[in-house]
Amino acid sequence: MDKSEKTVLVAGGAGFIGSHLCKKLLDDNYKVICVDNFLTSDKNNLQNLLKNPEFTLIEHDIIKPIQNSTLRLGLGQSLDYVFHLASPASPNKKSAKSYINYPIETLLVNSVGTYNLLQLARQFEACFLYASSSEIYGDPEISPQKEEYFGNVNPNGVRSVYDEGKRFGEAMTMGFVRKYDLDARVVRIFNTYGPLMQAQDGRVVSNFINQAIRNKPITVYGKGSQTRSFCYINDMVMGIILAMSTSNTKGEVFNLGNPDERTILELANLIKKMTNSSSEIIFENLPKDDPKSRKPDIAKAQKMLGWRPKVATEEGLQKTISYFKNII
Ligand SMILES: NC(=O)c1ccc[n+]([C@@H]2O[C@H](COP(=O)([O-])OP(=O)(O)OC[C@H]3O[C@@H](n4cnc5c(N)ncnc54)[C@H](O)[C@@H]3O)[C@@H](O)[C@H]2O)c1
Repeated sequence: MDKSEKTVLVAGGAGFIGSHLCKKLLDDNYKVICVDNFLTSDKNNLQNLLKNPEFTLIEHDIIKPIQNSTLRLGLGQSLDYVFHLASPASPNKKSAKSYINYPIETLLVNSVGTYNLLQLARQFEACFLYASSSEIYGDPEISPQKEEYFGNVNPNGVRSVYDEGKRFGEAMTMGFVRKYDLDARVVRIFNTYGPLMQAQDGRVVSNFINQAIRNKPITVYGKGSQTRSFCYINDMVMGIILAMSTSNTKGEVFNLGNPDERTILELANLIKKMTNSSSEIIFENLPKDDPKSRKPDIAKAQKMLGWRPKVATEEGLQKTISYFKNII
């Protein structure tokens, strides 16, 4: 079937990852419906997409069920794929957009919101993808993290609204696979960065780059010895699309991320050097339940999806630095 006849719904499509995903799907000739309530984003990321006649923007909170009439589907038009990326995603409580500051919204969008989108996918017999997170591993006791690892999560700590929300969303997705034979899968996204991240949403890469460009102090939490692995946005979008479109992925869970592990202090120094910044690096208290390490084992995605990140960390950072320099 011609891709131009296929319709894709992206919930959270105005966000950082969602807007890149919408763009790639439009480039690949899909019709795209973006559903978003702009809780942690605005229309800026969609500026170029709004001109495309194959793109429809629907302002809607997915905690409320989506009526067919809301989708504005044409006569006989099916809905073929549903991507669920809607959720606050920043752990930084200093940012107004952080899930720490939207605790109830975060729990509901990953539970009730996931249920509503799964019901929609079931009604249209559409394929479904749930964007989970490496946060379901909590503060992991093993590294790298494989999909089989159950994690080490504080069930009621400050990050639990996100971690447990994502764990519930995964369980709900698999419930629909088992009970209704829905063609659904889960991707566990590890730290992703790139252009269109918001300068103010408190995530480590955008924070460091913006502080460095402005020659302001670069704030490292703890001693900076905690590790993260950073995946460039284009690689992530390819992984998400392959997880949805590759055959035999129903009921599967995939880690998607870049296994190139760095300490946070290493990242701060690298960004400082790449921006020729005179910023000093300062140290603040480590937030509660901050994970000590994050490194995805991506062997499963490599084997089943033929996917692995192609953009090296330095190359991706350079593109992201150029983006932020342009918009400042
Ligand atoms: N960026 C990362 O490094 C990362 C890592 C792990 C997981 N994820 C997951 O990937 C997804 C996208 O993350 P992102 O970085 O693009 O975040 P983002 O905040 O930029 O985008 C999330 C989008 O969801 C929308 N949204 C939130 N609640 C909603 C609701 N109730 N109804 C409709 N829309 C709603 C927001 O307005 C926003 O546009 C999220 O589910 C996040 O948990 C991201």
